[in-house]
Amino acid sequence: MNLKLIDTHCHVNFSAYKDDMDAVIGRSLDEGIGMIIVGTQSDTSRRAVEVAEKYDGVWASIGLHPSHLHKQEFHDVGEFDSVKTRTEFFDPEFYRQLASHPKVMAIGEFGLDYYHLPPDIDEAQVHKDQINATNLQIDLATEFNKPIIVHSRDAHDDQFEILRLAVEAGKLPRRGVVHCFTGTLKDAQRYIDLGFMISFTGILTFSKELQVIARELPIESIMVETDAPYLSPVPHRGKRNEPSYVKFIAQTLADVKGLSYKQVAEQTTANAIKFFGLDI
Ligand code: NI
Repeated sequence: MNLKLIDTHCHVNFSAYKDDMDAVIGRSLDEGIGMIIVGTQSDTSRRAVEVAEKYDGVWASIGLHPSHLHKQEFHDVGEFDSVKTRTEFFDPEFYRQLASHPKVMAIGEFGLDYYHLPPDIDEAQVHKDQINATNLQIDLATEFNKPIIVHSRDAHDDQFEILRLAVEAGKLPRRGVVHCFTGTLKDAQRYIDLGFMISFTGILTFSKELQVIARELPIESIMVETDAPYLSPVPHRGKRNEPSYVKFIAQTLADVKGLSYKQVAEQTTANAIKFFGLDI
């Protein structure tokens, strides 16, 4: 299969696509844009695998997102929809059964989110639960020799420390990607020094701050993603996002790095193929 780009992180498995998921995936594949569908809890992880099974150029990742550890509801500024979660504990047995599926290329997304906190639970307890679930999923990825997809928001110091300790202990031989990166240049550089990748969403198309960071990072360590249905890039801000829009992020990356679109598309696609071990 000849893919021109890969959306390395999307959620077409979410209910936002319940009426037109196949059309959305078809539009993307018709443009030569493959995708990794990412699970955020047990139901969406199972669904990611089921959908990936149906298509060439589509793969899955499974995991439990920190916002799904405690019941909560929030609506981020500028988003087309709100997010509602229920409480779920990480069940290694459930995820172990999914992890052996040939279309499961990574474990995640999981990690630390100190930005969205459930209102009714002690903050220290929330952090503790997130750290615990993170370590369990690092162990799962190590057991199955898969890379990880890290979600880290307002928590880069703790997040880096967990990853550093894991690597030091001989875990995560295939490392991981820090997805939807919104930290500082220093944060990005220490993840890269640890062998991790950095991935940019549509935020790159409108954040000058992030563009400055992207300019400084080596293209070999960068991947692109939509995080659809959220975080639509310019010119689709505020509307439902979809995998085919990853081209707008690649174009911004080309502009800020002074490279051609083709160079960025080829390099980030090669990065994704290597990172996830895609069989194409
Ligand atoms: Ni996501």
